[in-house]
Amino acid sequence: MKKDISTREDIELLVRTFYEKVKTDPVIGHIFTTVVKVNWAKHLPVMFDFWENTLFYTGTYSGNPMISHQRLHNLFPLNEEHFNRWVLLFTTTVDELFEGEKALLAKQRALSISTVMRIKILHQGIGK
Ligand code: HEM
Repeated sequence: MKKDISTREDIELLVRTFYEKVKTDPVIGHIFTTVVKVNWAKHLPVMFDFWENTLFYTGTYSGNPMISHQRLHNLFPLNEEHFNRWVLLFTTTVDELFEGEKALLAKQRALSISTVMRIKILHQGIGK
């Protein structure tokens, strides 16, 4: 039986494993490695904070992902396939490593945030 997500270390494992998949992914990998040459030493701790805040309401993240992805979209147009792939990779990673209430919440949040992001960015455009 797998354990649930319960500590900062669990979140770090989840996020690191997810981005290992992302980096080599044929659908979205190049966005992270070529379009935006992501500085992983900076990005990973931001994502640890984001997920810790999303799952445990710690107040550790105060950025605005909607605006940062609108900027990304202006640089490199994102489409439905990119969002679906992101969610699939995230959900698969959660299921490989964890199970329980927080694991389920992580998958629900990933899907709901992605859906809002996709609708705002693809169908409305923030700040246009
Ligand atoms: C098409 C799907 C997506 C792509 C291609 C994508 C790509 C990226 C990239 C390139 C960055 C910038 C990294 C850097 O700072 O160098 C980023 C940041 C981030 N992404 Fe995504 N992303 C996607 C979907 C999502 C979703 C669905 C979520 C949330 C569930 C999310 C959460 C974040 C957060 C929190 C940041 C940090 C923003 C900040 O600087 O505060 N992303 N993403």
